[in-house]
Amino acid sequence: MPSTLPEGDAAPADGSLPEAALAEVGERSFGFYVHVPFCTVRCGYCDFNTYTAEELGEGVTRRTYAEQAVAEVRLARRVLGERDLPVRTVFFGGGTPTLLTADELGTILGAIRDEFGLAADAEVTTEANPDSVDLAYLDRLRGNGFNRLSFGMQSAVPSVLQTLDRTHDPARVPRVVEAARAAGFDPARGGSISLDLIYGTPGESLDDWRTSLEAALACAPDHLSAYSLIVEDGTALARRVRRGELPMPDEDDLADKYLLADERLTAAGLGWYEVSNWSRSGAECRHNLAYWRGDDWWGVGPGSHSHVGGVRWWNVKHPAAYAARLSAHESPAHAREVLDAQTRRVERVLLEVRLRDGLPIAVLDEAGRAAVPGLEAEGLLEPGTTDRLVLTTRGRLLADAVVRDLLG
Ligand SMILES: C[S@@+](CC[C@H](N)C(=O)[O-])C[C@H]1O[C@@H](n2cnc3c(N)ncnc32)[C@H](O)[C@@H]1O
Ligand code: SF4
Repeated sequence: MPSTLPEGDAAPADGSLPEAALAEVGERSFGFYVHVPFCTVRCGYCDFNTYTAEELGEGVTRRTYAEQAVAEVRLARRVLGERDLPVRTVFFGGGTPTLLTADELGTILGAIRDEFGLAADAEVTTEANPDSVDLAYLDRLRGNGFNRLSFGMQSAVPSVLQTLDRTHDPARVPRVVEAARAAGFDPARGGSISLDLIYGTPGESLDDWRTSLEAALACAPDHLSAYSLIVEDGTALARRVRRGELPMPDEDDLADKYLLADERLTAAGLGWYEVSNWSRSGAECRHNLAYWRGDDWWGVGPGSHSHVGGVRWWNVKHPAAYAARLSAHESPAHAREVLDAQTRRVERVLLEVRLRDGLPIAVLDEAGRAAVPGLEAEGLLEPGTTDRLVLTTRGRLLADAVVRDLLG
């Protein structure tokens, strides 16, 4: 089962926000995240808030989910009032969003469009597992207004996929990418495709990782995310590592794999724009950029987090509890936190320093600014910066240490 939620302040049953937060709405870009908490099997490394049919229990089904998500979109409109608030990005994540039908996903997107309106160039993404979609499904998604797909490829090497409990045949990925292009997820038709890879799986050699990178590049994606495998507490993977059945990912091995990824992706025309993300110029994920820049978004669905006008809240985790709240016409928020200026500043440092555009020096306090020359001398920050701090390649490998120094 997924991990527990943080505690926080009580969230009002009607979902209302403090006046000060509402006053800020519209100052920043606004988007929606829609969480779809269903998977056919749970992968051993994953602690996301997702449930197999068995874990869901009785009385909760995928088939009623779209209706509940629509109810939360309508609640968002009541809470935010009638102000003009076009939605710039929508991201359906999971779980496995594509376990809902393309029309169910379209119904939720339609509610966002009806309640708020989508900006003319809105980016509308869904995550998809390569084995859960085909051409007919992708056609329907495109027809329903989705223009970006993010496929969970993870690896092209069967033994690595097996350690990760991934069920798809790696040969399926190029076929599904081709189908997605044919369905219109193609830059020439206003669409784009991203692939997710994971490196550092126990037993994965540097050559295996090279094979995965080359296989991903052979699909000519517009965007690629490469995450180092995190061994999350409470997962089957963590238990196998604890029992000594699998080794813990090794820091030096992870660094070598990161450098190889950066080299190969850059050579193929995908530049880094966040420590773990590379894209063709103009194909950056605007939704994720909005998170990293501290913009506003409403997170729909069980366990989803929202951030609007300096207030962060998070929904009850279990789909049954979520459905019960919405059926009682109550907000599904479990708790919330009003972020003070210092917390907002620390979060900016944590997130923005990871971006290619860099962190404005003005965000740092005196101690943070004093750390900059040392970090430059160590080759962790690009030298000679006067307004924005940008990590070097070595700095990207040691981003957490850089953040610690900048926060004093
Ligand atoms: C939570 S998944 C949801 C999408 C889809 N169900 C899938 O697995 O492909 C989103 C992405 O998070 C990454 N991810 C999930 N758990 C991870 C972990 N423990 N370590 C590193 N990356 C992880 C994977 O690359 C995955 O594609
Ligand atoms: S398919 Fe994705 S969300 Fe589902 S369990 Fe696997 S990694 Fe987690």
